[in-house]
Amino acid sequence: MKGNNMKEDIERVLISEEELKKRVAELGAQISADYAGKEPLLVSVLRGSYIFMADLTRSIDCFCRVDFMAVSSYGSGTVSSGQVNIIKDLSDSIEGKDVIVVEDILDSGNTLSYLIKVLQARHPASIRLATLLDKPSRRTKPITADYVGFTVPDEFVVGYGLDYDELYRSLPYIGILKPCVYQKD
Ligand code: PRP
Repeated sequence: MKGNNMKEDIERVLISEEELKKRVAELGAQISADYAGKEPLLVSVLRGSYIFMADLTRSIDCFCRVDFMAVSSYGSGTVSSGQVNIIKDLSDSIEGKDVIVVEDILDSGNTLSYLIKVLQARHPASIRLATLLDKPSRRTKPITADYVGFTVPDEFVVGYGLDYDELYRSLPYIGILKPCVYQKD
């Protein structure tokens, strides 16, 4: 059960605002160097990636375009259901484009391996994956990200876009949720 305010439900801060800012700037610099002379298309996978996307794009200094896709796989639980649904598709064609898929977390890999397959079939020039968080201990699909912000342990993380039951996305840091919030008694 949730408490009276968001911060009360956080057991501890895993990644601070300062650490996020520094690492996102590093990723932006890396992408700017890798895509120098190109015009990458950044595809944000909603909803979890919206804050990372906003900060990452502002730290990339080459020309870039943005587009958005919404998928759902978790429902309100904490374990992936394995089922991926496209709720909102991209607005424009990606044919011949250098696509960077931007995610908040790579967990089982189910969502991303499905999405990459869907996007590959649309014939982009290239496709890479940038994820803020990587939880390799939970991977069930053989997928790795090209750009990783932080490798995290198997804890229930929220904030900076990541939710539990659609709440906590607006926390400015990545925190570990108190188990009493999601455990049924
Ligand atoms: C989260 C996250 C990824 C997916 C990763 O999305 O944004 O899309 O789970 O998990 P996986 O590697 O096990 O597939 P979620 O379904 O929670 O939706 P959200 O982005 O709206 O929070």
